[in-house]
Amino acid sequence: MSAIDPLRQQVAQWRQQGERIALVPTMGNLHAGHLALVEQARQLAPKVIASLFVNPTQFGPHEDFSAYPRTLAADQAKLATAGCDLLFAPSLTSVYPQGAEHTTRVEVPGLSDILCGACRPGHFAGVAQVVCKLFNMVQPDIAVFGEKDRQQLLVIQRMVADLNMPITVVGSPTVREADGLAMSSRNAYLDTEQRRLAPQLYHTLCTVKAKLISGEPDYPAMEHTAVQQLAAMGFRPDYVRIVRAQDYADPTPSDTALVIVAAAWLGRARLIDNIAITMPLRG
Ligand code: PAF
Repeated sequence: MSAIDPLRQQVAQWRQQGERIALVPTMGNLHAGHLALVEQARQLAPKVIASLFVNPTQFGPHEDFSAYPRTLAADQAKLATAGCDLLFAPSLTSVYPQGAEHTTRVEVPGLSDILCGACRPGHFAGVAQVVCKLFNMVQPDIAVFGEKDRQQLLVIQRMVADLNMPITVVGSPTVREADGLAMSSRNAYLDTEQRRLAPQLYHTLCTVKAKLISGEPDYPAMEHTAVQQLAAMGFRPDYVRIVRAQDYADPTPSDTALVIVAAAWLGRARLIDNIAITMPLRG
């Protein structure tokens, strides 16, 4: 389904029948990570809608919007097998009838400007804009997002809270390949040698986690070492940081819920990953 009116009619009919509705927003090129989101959505609501829209406003001018893999027929088949009730795949003109440049923007201050937001200016404003629009088109009770994009998840949770949207935003655990690499549509950009190296991003985060758990106190030194190790292996790291889970600010000694976050390039693939940890209480 690609038009908004029939989508609304279907949603209204389900609502009349007393059904709750979960939305899984995607940009397509679906892999097992997306299907795990659908599976989680199915556990949370009897009706599951997946949206598929490659959103231009979240790509920078020199990023991979045109190259982003578009695989609608294969995605449709995977969603049907996964038990998704409806695929909503709107066109560019139905999402941005006035053109993206002339469409109302949604800014989530602070969180959108750090880490991936600092590396990709405007990215999270584009994500917030399109997710806000998708939420208004579909009007789901629940929306499920992958924890691999944890900063995105936080931005959306903040947007929903700030704008009083009656939607529960749920994070779903990262799905990994057998060697630890977080599943991502952009992994398709890796050549054989880069693919062999790629899991080292996750393994580097695991090393930082082990140091944190063992009580190493110097977070900046750990971050610096991790960046250097990744660079020595052939990555072009954007950052490795230890942040607190609720707002991605620098942790204070009393913060126990932390996340180790990283972004690094391998060839033309920008890989991101994170590990959440609960620190033993100090003192
Ligand atoms: O995570 C994604 O695939 C996209 O950022 C999203 C949430 C579908 C918005 O375009």
